[in-house]
Order: sequence, then structure tokens, then C-alpha cells
Amino acid sequence: MQALQLGATIGILGDGQLGRMLSQAASRLGFKVVTFGPDAESPAAQVSLASKVAAYTDEAVLARLAERCDVITFEFENVPASSLDYLVGLGATVAPSSKALRITQDRVFEKSFAREQGVGTVDFRAIDSLDDLKAAVAELGVPSLLKTRREGYDGKGQVWIKSTDDIAEAFNSLNGRPSILEAKADFTREISVVAARGWDGTVSTFPIGENHHVGGILSTTLAPAQIAAETVARAHDIARKVLEGLDYVGVLAVELFVLPGGDVLLNEIAPRVHNSGHWTQDGCLCDQFEQHIRAVVGWPLGDTTARCTVEMTNLLGADILDWPRLSAEARARLYVYGKDDPRPGRKMGHINRIKS
Ligand SMILES: Nc1ncnc2c1ncn2[C@@H]1O[C@H](COP(=O)(O)OP(=O)(O)O)[C@@H](O)[C@H]1O
Ligand SMILES: [Mg+2]
Repeated sequence: MQALQLGATIGILGDGQLGRMLSQAASRLGFKVVTFGPDAESPAAQVSLASKVAAYTDEAVLARLAERCDVITFEFENVPASSLDYLVGLGATVAPSSKALRITQDRVFEKSFAREQGVGTVDFRAIDSLDDLKAAVAELGVPSLLKTRREGYDGKGQVWIKSTDDIAEAFNSLNGRPSILEAKADFTREISVVAARGWDGTVSTFPIGENHHVGGILSTTLAPAQIAAETVARAHDIARKVLEGLDYVGVLAVELFVLPGGDVLLNEIAPRVHNSGHWTQDGCLCDQFEQHIRAVVGWPLGDTTARCTVEMTNLLGADILDWPRLSAEARARLYVYGKDDPRPGRKMGHINRIKS
């Protein structure tokens, strides 16, 4: 596609903190941003030229967005793929594609896709009934992890099966939703790669982040991760295979497990900028938000070289109330998402601390 001119308008489906930081990056480069989401006072709406408050399936509002925007992207992986198809049908330019969304919205499709690209995953089985689950536990063993196929995030919609006695309760806890049983990965580290692909097929990867989760939610990312060069190469190769296999345009993240022998397995794909890439705001010349904007508007991808080591810490719930102390820290930069209610576990902001 032709590179968009300064002052062009970008539409963003989704209105959370990722949309907020995308909008800020876009406006820095001279673009106008219209956000689309269910909440009038959303983090993204607060920093954008205009916001459309509607359900993602509202065709009249989608049509107005298509008319107004030169390119439309998204920051939320549960936007219905059919809404993207609708926009494309109206002649809008949309990136990433609905194909990327369809595959990554479903954990069974996602892992099957990875394997088709020659990327390893844990063993898994699709689960539609209690009998399926009994058979799958017999094959994959315990402990194993039962997850909903769709709409899980921050460890929600997941339950460990530690013994065969847990099977019925685990199955019932997901209320009969289509699920996936995953073998346990005995990983030594969890890492992620944030990477981008442009309309012309150019691929660019960021240095790797090492992630620590607490209670299923990302707590910290340290980057660039101190890992073997071979692991870095494997991780970047996985990101490239995923980008190319999806014919992707924009930024995505792959969450990976590093096994004791050095093998690297794909855990999940996020078809958007990612929490584990927030460190790039202070660690790289071009951060993940600017990179996504550059990719979707057809600009050259930016320089992803690391300038320093950064530790990103999420500020969850009441952590944000500590802002007077956090804002006074040396060698640190505070990001606040503009959300009112610091519910436990809610992502309210993050802080990037420069380590070296
Ligand atoms: N198969 C697995 N084996 C071991 N740990 C897992 C497995 N799947 C997920 N986990 C752990 O749970 C976390 C959240 O799971 P994930 O599939 O990434 O779901 P979410 O969409 O909630 O991020 C992972 O980052 C990892 O720590
Ligand atoms: Mg995850």
C-alpha cells in the first residue's frame, strides 16, 4: 500500500491502555486517531481526536469509521473477526487481517497453525465433553491445564488438573465451554518476542523480554533478556514464521516457553501490541506502539535496537495509589492509563526502570 501522508486518520478498534499508547504514538507522528469501543471515558478515548462509543458489531458506526479512516487497526484480540470483514467489504484498509484474528482467537486453531508452520507447542487436545476430557487426561497425563478455547486472558478461564479426581470439577468450572487440554510445559523461563511485519513483507523483531507472571497476570518483563544466543535465534525464528504464516501486517507478540534442553515452544500469539513490549518505550529508539503505527500506515519500520536494559513492572489495582513515590523515582518512567477504579488485578499503569 501507499505510505499514508502526514495528517491521515487512523481508526483503532478497542479503547484500553494499548489503544491509548497507540494513539499517543500515532499523534506524535502527525496522524489523527479515532478510537472505537464501548466506553466513552476509556483510556484511549481520553487521548484521541474522536471516539465512537458503540458495540463492535454496530454496522452503522463501523460504516462511519470506514468512511473517515485511511487505515483501521485494533488493539483488542476479541473484536469480532466479522466486524473486520464488514469494514473490508466497505472498502476500508484494515490491518492486521481478520484471518490473524480468527486463528489467534481460538487456542486450538492457534496451536494447530503454529504446528503447521513448524513451530512446536505443548501437546494438546480439543475438549467438547466430559468424555473428551477423560480421554485427553489419560493421554496427556497430570498435571495438565484445561483452558477455554476463546476469550481467556490474564490466566482467566484456566484450571489445573492435578489428578484424575479433579476431572469432573475442572470440566464443570468452565461451564461446558469449548476447551483445550494442554500438557504441562516444564519451562525454565517464559520469554516473548514482539515483532512487526510491513505491507511489503519486511520483518523486524525487538530484543526478547523475559516475563514473570504472578497469579496468571504478567508482573514484570526484563529486557533484553539474558539468554543464550541460540535461544534468541530460535525465538526470533518463531516470530518470523508466525508473521509470515499469517501474512501479517502490524505488531504481534509471541509468548514462548524455554525448556531445560533449550527447545522453545509457542504458548500463545497476541495479534496486537503486548504488555511484555512496554519496556520498548524506554529501551528502544522505536517502541512497539510506534512500530505498529509505522507498519499499518506503510511507513518504513523503525529501529528496534536496545539502548539499555529495562525492567517493566505492571501497576495492578491499588499499586497505582503509590504514584507519589513512583513518580519520584530516579531512572524510571511512569505510565498511567487514566482508569478510575483500581480494582484488584486491573492494569492501571506501568513503570519502566532503567537497569543499565
Ligand atoms: N501448558 C502450560 N504449561 C505450563 N504453564 C502454562 C501452560 N499454559 C499456560 N501456563 C502458564 O499460565 C500463564 C497464562 O497462560 P496463557 O496461555 O498465556 O493465558 P492468558 O491468555 O491468560 O495469558 C502462562 O504465561 C504460563 O505461566
Ligand atoms: Mg498469555
